[in-house]
Amino acid sequence: MQQARLRILVINGPNLNLLGSREPDVYGQETLETIESRLRALAPDLGCEVEFFQANGEGQLIDALHRAPATVDGVVLNPGALGHYSYALMDAVSAIGLPVVEVHLTNVLGREPFRRQLVIAPVAVGVIMGVGPVGYELAIRGLLARHRTGGRTG
Ligand code: DQA
Repeated sequence: MQQARLRILVINGPNLNLLGSREPDVYGQETLETIESRLRALAPDLGCEVEFFQANGEGQLIDALHRAPATVDGVVLNPGALGHYSYALMDAVSAIGLPVVEVHLTNVLGREPFRRQLVIAPVAVGVIMGVGPVGYELAIRGLLARHRTGGRTG
C-alpha cells in the first residue's frame, strides 16, 4: 500500500513578503514567490505536499498555526523578528503538537545582539539558519526524515 504523502505548511512571518527588494545584501535577491514556486516544484520529488502562508501580524501567524493540525503533518516556520521575542508564537508552536522546524535565511547568531535570542527554537524540533533560501528545503527534508524515523533525529 502506498503511504500518504506528508503535508507540510511553510509559514513566513513579518517582512518576508518583501524578500527580493528588502535589504538584498542581507537577505538575497530572491522573492518569496520564487522560493515558494521552487519548493512547490520540488515537493513531488521529495514525496510531500507543500502549502504556504505568509502574514505580517503575530495574530494571523498564531491563527495559521492553530489551523495547521487539521490539514498538515508538519510546519516550516520563518518567524522573522518575532522569533526573537514572541512568546505567544512560541506558545502556539507548543500547543499544536506538530513538528515545527524554524528557519532563518541569515545566521542570526552572527548579527545584532537582539537577534541572538531565539524564543521559539527551544520548542521547535530543529533550527536551520544562515544558508539562505535552501534552508526551507533542508527543513522540509528534515521533517520528512524525522517522520521516517518515527520522530527520532537519527
Ligand atoms: C530572519 C532573521 C530575523 O532576525 C529578521 O528579523 C527577519 C528575517 C531571517 O530569515 O534571516 O525578518 O528571520
